[in-house]
Amino acid sequence: MKPIIVKIGGSTLGSHDTTLDDLVALQREDKTLVVVHGGHNVVTEWLSRLGIATRFIDGLRVTDHQTLQVVIAVLCGLVNKELVAAIQSRGGRAMGLCGIDGHLIEARIKNEELGQTGEIVKINVEPIEILLKEGYIPIISPLGLEGEKAMPLNINGDTAAGEIAAALSAERLIILTDVAGVMDGLGKPLPRLSPCEASSLIASGVVMGGMIPKVEACLCALSTVPMTQIVDGRLPHALVDAIAGKGGGTIIA
Ligand SMILES: Nc1ncnc2c1ncn2[C@@H]1O[C@H](COP(=O)(O)OP(=O)(O)O)[C@@H](O)[C@H]1O
Ligand SMILES: [Mg+2]
Repeated sequence: MKPIIVKIGGSTLGSHDTTLDDLVALQREDKTLVVVHGGHNVVTEWLSRLGIATRFIDGLRVTDHQTLQVVIAVLCGLVNKELVAAIQSRGGRAMGLCGIDGHLIEARIKNEELGQTGEIVKINVEPIEILLKEGYIPIISPLGLEGEKAMPLNINGDTAAGEIAAALSAERLIILTDVAGVMDGLGKPLPRLSPCEASSLIASGVVMGGMIPKVEACLCALSTVPMTQIVDGRLPHALVDAIAGKGGGTIIA
């Protein structure tokens, strides 16, 4: 069965939304699920505790070597393991890995200005397929590996989710976030967008900051995935409702 890719971010991590309960409920219904997580607010919190300054360009973190060490420790360690533990404590089956493991995400430096921030060169789906075959929900931290220099690279979680969805020809991509959906210039959520409309919202600057990589991830996934959604993860059972076609948010298809 084709998997559903779920990107979780700030709305789930460290808060009390129902996404983890939903994931376990959906797994019980034999849905095939792959989770990609962000967690950059947790990274920012640890960077400030450690006295390391942080800077973003178009929603992407500028990653120097010290920042990268914190990104790896926090995303692949703390955030990933907390998610796996929370799903298991609800009776789910989950296995954590990051994009470095099994060469899942091959990457290269995106541009020098962003430091050790990567862009994805290739997704190797084998590690995901092995876990899915054994009935696990893979919980993926968005790190990549630059093969020649064996250099880990920081990848935006939305971007990773979009590329993984495309590589798996997923049934759908659902990006959970902390707003009602993609909003127009007046702050009104847009229920449905064509790829063309979505692109022009980025070009015109209506879609900004952290929403840019989400919309771009949907556009990337649409090469093989029939339906992508950006959904308000704070609403109770947002994920179950989105899959049942009952939720709000924005569909890009
Ligand atoms: N047109 C838009 N519609 C909705 N949100 C937008 C828009 N432009 C910018 N944003 C911002 O994008 C944010 C979501 O991205 P981000 O903060 O990275 O959250 P996440 O933790 O889910 O990745 C929203 O909280 C909002 O401030
Ligand atoms: Mg974000």
